[in-house]
Amino acid sequence: MAFYSMRFTPGDRILTGMVEYASNYIAYLHVASRTGASVEAIPNDEHGQISIDALRRAIDGRVKLISLTHVPTNGGLVNPAAPVGRVARTAGIPFLLDACQSVGQMPVDVETIGCDMLSGTGRKYLRGPRATGFLYVRGAVLDRLEPPFLDLHAATWVAPDRYVVRPDARRFENWETNYAGKIALGVAVDYALALGPIRDRVYALGGLLRERLRATPRVQVHDQGAERCGIVTFTVDGIDAAAVQEQLASRRINVHTSSQSSTLLDMQRRGLTKLVRASVHYYNTEGEIDRLVGAVASLR
Ligand SMILES: Cc1ncc(COP(=O)(O)O)c(C=O)c1O
Repeated sequence: MAFYSMRFTPGDRILTGMVEYASNYIAYLHVASRTGASVEAIPNDEHGQISIDALRRAIDGRVKLISLTHVPTNGGLVNPAAPVGRVARTAGIPFLLDACQSVGQMPVDVETIGCDMLSGTGRKYLRGPRATGFLYVRGAVLDRLEPPFLDLHAATWVAPDRYVVRPDARRFENWETNYAGKIALGVAVDYALALGPIRDRVYALGGLLRERLRATPRVQVHDQGAERCGIVTFTVDGIDAAAVQEQLASRRINVHTSSQSSTLLDMQRRGLTKLVRASVHYYNTEGEIDRLVGAVASLR
């Protein structure tokens, strides 16, 4: 909703990163093909995260948006959102951050990051229901955003030929909504806030799992970035990622897989087709990590 609320004209530039999620990139390409704007992925630095120097060098008067994935779907990388925010602020360019993978496992503060728009989902580290999520929009950019569709909740019909759009971020909502889902998302958020900071625990468990997997024969760990979170991705030589998932599931260990088309730029660049993704949370134990690593070591 936030991205489709922006207006682009021919020659405008949309800057993004190498690990952008398919749903975001498809939307960029869609809008670019309609408007004549261009989409450019800023290269990575030596850590495999967005290069702040390259981003700075790419800035000119035609850049109308910086839109970035905070934590990708295919790895533990945490992109340096706050330095990107400083570049965006200095240049006066709106900054949209996709925090779907980061919210719930680390502090995410729109003031520290300096983003103008931020999207989050309920179904990942917040452990809320599927198909719930939220959008933050800074008041200062609100007037520049026209939602792609409006109804009587987003706007008021004030004269036969006129409506007035709401002055707040509810302009991105609709009248009809899934109240049960929203209440459940609120419960998940309250739960997360009551837990307090869990980042150190999640990062430590992720780090331990990576270290143990690296020491396991036939296993390659694929996470990049100077800062790595609780998402751990790996492959096992000679065993397809889907088969790894299936065999682990039979031992009551839940992992997921991540395919090339979800983060096409990054996966193609690294020559990867499919990864196994294990996401640890604060409640996982060192014993469970042992069990996972042992199960991976015994895969056939
Ligand atoms: C980076 C990123 N953004 C957005 C999403 C989408 O979240 P949802 O499908 O809950 O909207 C995902 C899901 O994997 C993701 O990895």
